[in-house]
Amino acid sequence: MPIDFHQHQNRYTYATRNADSGWAQAIQAIVAPHGALAEKRVADIGCGGGIYSLAWQALGAGSVRGVDFSAQMVTAAREKSAGVDNVSFSQGDATASGLEGESTDIVFERALIHHLKDYAACFAEARRVLAPGGLFIVQDRTPDDVALPGAPDHMRGYFFERYPRLLQVEAGRRPPVAKVEQAMRDAGFSQVQSQTLWEIRKTYPDFETLGKDLAARTGRSILHDLNDTELADLIAHIKSQLPANGPIVEKDRWTLWVGTKPS
Ligand SMILES: C[S@@+](CC[C@H](N)C(=O)[O-])C[C@H]1O[C@@H](n2cnc3c(N)ncnc32)[C@H](O)[C@@H]1O
Repeated sequence: MPIDFHQHQNRYTYATRNADSGWAQAIQAIVAPHGALAEKRVADIGCGGGIYSLAWQALGAGSVRGVDFSAQMVTAAREKSAGVDNVSFSQGDATASGLEGESTDIVFERALIHHLKDYAACFAEARRVLAPGGLFIVQDRTPDDVALPGAPDHMRGYFFERYPRLLQVEAGRRPPVAKVEQAMRDAGFSQVQSQTLWEIRKTYPDFETLGKDLAARTGRSILHDLNDTELADLIAHIKSQLPANGPIVEKDRWTLWVGTKPS
């Protein structure tokens, strides 16, 4: 059964880690040619628990507004960002965000679009809220990103080796590169480009800590398609594939798409 983002029990599922410095470097490189980040207003749509809203703030964005359709996520994001300046959150849909027209310089949507049936309304909303010349940055995993084999530093690959049916779930929802590029152009964005990014998701001191995170399905919506028995089997399988000792660095490959709203 897919994750229900509106359930209280899932409130912190996208709030319990921090963004990786490799992500920050990739974003800096994209944004740098477009002027000082301190002058930029960023909207993080589908912000979850605010991990990346806070990462944009730490990068030096002038202001960050996180938007999510789940009241639970917005509550978690507000808790996580308590006391941090220039970051705020509101409830809104990716297709009707509640943000003012032309009120942002950067719209960022991470791990959102694979939850949407139709990108057109979402991308039209991004274009509406962006000021002319603004950047639209989408981050998600493509079917090719997802299908990479399992390895000690790419443990997500083990999910699909052990439970191939999960790959079918992913194939049905993950966006191919060209589909997103075309949807961006159709929504009126120019200079559309894409690139891949290896992002460290989290570093675990030992398997016990990782196993607890997996058992709670934290931040991994695909694991909601396994029942508890299957999940326990998967965790045992992953343990058998990883070195017995030492920290575990969990990495995933992502795709970043960037488009510009014409001036
Ligand atoms: C996989 S989580 C990603 C959270 C965050 N962007 C991150 O990368 O950590 C997807 C988020 O999108 C939100 N979401 C899904 N559909 C949405 C929609 N139609 N409008 C706004 N938010 C949505 C969910 O509530 C959830 O917080």
